[in-house]
Amino acid sequence: MRIIVTGGAGFIGSHIVDALLKEGHSVAVIDNLSHGSRLNVDAGAKLYIADIRSKDIEDIFEEFKPEVLCHHAAQIKVPVSVGNPILDADINILGSINLLEACRKFGVEKVIYPASAAIFGEPKYLPIDEEHPLDMISGYGVSKHTVEHYLKVYNELYGLKYTIFRYANVYGPRQDSSGEGGVVSIFSEKFLMREQPVIFGDGNQTRDFVYVEDVAKANIQALGSLDNEIYNVCTNTEVSVNELFHLFNNLTASGLKPEYQGIREGDIRNSYMSFDKINMACGWSPEVSLEEGLKRTIEYFKGSLMTNN
Ligand SMILES: NC(=O)c1ccc[n+]([C@@H]2O[C@H](COP(=O)([O-])OP(=O)(O)OC[C@H]3O[C@@H](n4cnc5c(N)ncnc54)[C@H](O)[C@@H]3O)[C@@H](O)[C@H]2O)c1
Repeated sequence: MRIIVTGGAGFIGSHIVDALLKEGHSVAVIDNLSHGSRLNVDAGAKLYIADIRSKDIEDIFEEFKPEVLCHHAAQIKVPVSVGNPILDADINILGSINLLEACRKFGVEKVIYPASAAIFGEPKYLPIDEEHPLDMISGYGVSKHTVEHYLKVYNELYGLKYTIFRYANVYGPRQDSSGEGGVVSIFSEKFLMREQPVIFGDGNQTRDFVYVEDVAKANIQALGSLDNEIYNVCTNTEVSVNELFHLFNNLTASGLKPEYQGIREGDIRNSYMSFDKINMACGWSPEVSLEEGLKRTIEYFKGSLMTNN
């Protein structure tokens, strides 16, 4: 199939590109490189350096003629969405509509779109399933969720198919470790550099960590099934930040002690999600254990630290 991956120079998108190429698909990436890197894009994919909000999108769709749009480009930082909600909405909502309009004009069959666990707020029950009530507490949650509505509308009006994924905390190689990037990428660098990592709060807060290649596999499944539904992509497993810290200590043989700092405003306490629905629909389940995923991630960061020094 001919597939455009927006955000394909970023963390998750680039792994999806790799998985699609491995399956023999023709892949193009649209990314403005605001956060990702061209080094993440396999040479087998065509890279269009463009903003999803721009007029160039139509020309790209006209030239590449995609059958599927896998839309992973986004402004992903919650604090940016709080400090500059207009920018967040401009990229995440208007940018997405710009792409949907191109899909409509150029006869794209299907859109695959990742929303986020950020739309649930403090969970009412665990594990979070697809019926869990929504309670957005940031502009980012609102902007990611708004596009879910547009996808349903474009399906009703124009027959454009969609799969909406709600990812838990995705981790793995190529994740940004700067700023408030994922805890796994931050810990990877800190442990490898033998620097004391900071834990916000008491460290007993829990998250559901899903390995990025498992996420890419769910996207592959969505090419031929999972139409017009919402699916969690997660592990149904709750891991505390303290447990994660101990795993890192074991895997890197570091003997570091955490530095505990005040809890961050807006951080939720416990979260993990159920993957029963996607498992029933297509048999998907996470294949990479946390320990194995962390080993692979640490190896990646070891390589990138050596290249940078
Ligand atoms: N990382 C997670 O745990 C997680 C969880 C749930 C959902 N998601 C969603 O998955 C997607 C990918 O996230 P990620 O962690 O790989 O982030 P990322 O920042 O690594 O990738 C996003 C990519 O989009 C590009 N981009 C940003 N704005 C753009 C624009 N205006 N035009 C063109 N390209 C633009 C960036 O350059 C970057 O390469 C996002 O939609 C995010 O909301 C991520």
